[in-house]
Amino acid sequence: MGTKGRAIVGAQGEKIIGLLNKALADEWLAYYQYWVGAKVVKGPMKDAVIAELIQHAGDELRHAGLVADRVTRLGGIPLLSPEQWFKATNCGYDAPEDPYVAAVLSQNIKGEQCAIQVYSDLLKATRDVDPVTYNMVLGILSDEVEHEDDLQNLDEDLKLMLNHGK
Ligand SMILES: [Fe+2]
Ligand SMILES: [Fe+2]
Repeated sequence: MGTKGRAIVGAQGEKIIGLLNKALADEWLAYYQYWVGAKVVKGPMKDAVIAELIQHAGDELRHAGLVADRVTRLGGIPLLSPEQWFKATNCGYDAPEDPYVAAVLSQNIKGEQCAIQVYSDLLKATRDVDPVTYNMVLGILSDEVEHEDDLQNLDEDLKLMLNHGK
């Protein structure tokens, strides 16, 4: 651990480590929800939806890596067991039990909206306290905002297609 890099964060460091570990749990669950969603999804526009789910899964895994590295640099330990993900998560996990495209999109839109709230709160918690975490969170938040937009655009296209000519 870089001692001066940790020292500038001060007493808020432990609280930030806790918040980051909760976000880490969210990222792993989001990763798997996208990954397995891409395996089972069925219905119109399936190929476009699968491509988006796979891309988002990759982004969530990358976010997990960024968040875990930041926990370590703050002197914390990233969650070490998947069992901890369900205890720590803010956004939970929605199993894609209904594989229909609209159902899978809706679950993931809900997840992205939760992620946007989590990272928005983390921005507030780190502003003026921990500029390095703030900067990382800003980048991740931008990705989550884009993810929500991607999924809602697909959902709009799906509805347009299904309602066209009715
Ligand atoms: Fe993410
Ligand atoms: Fe996302």
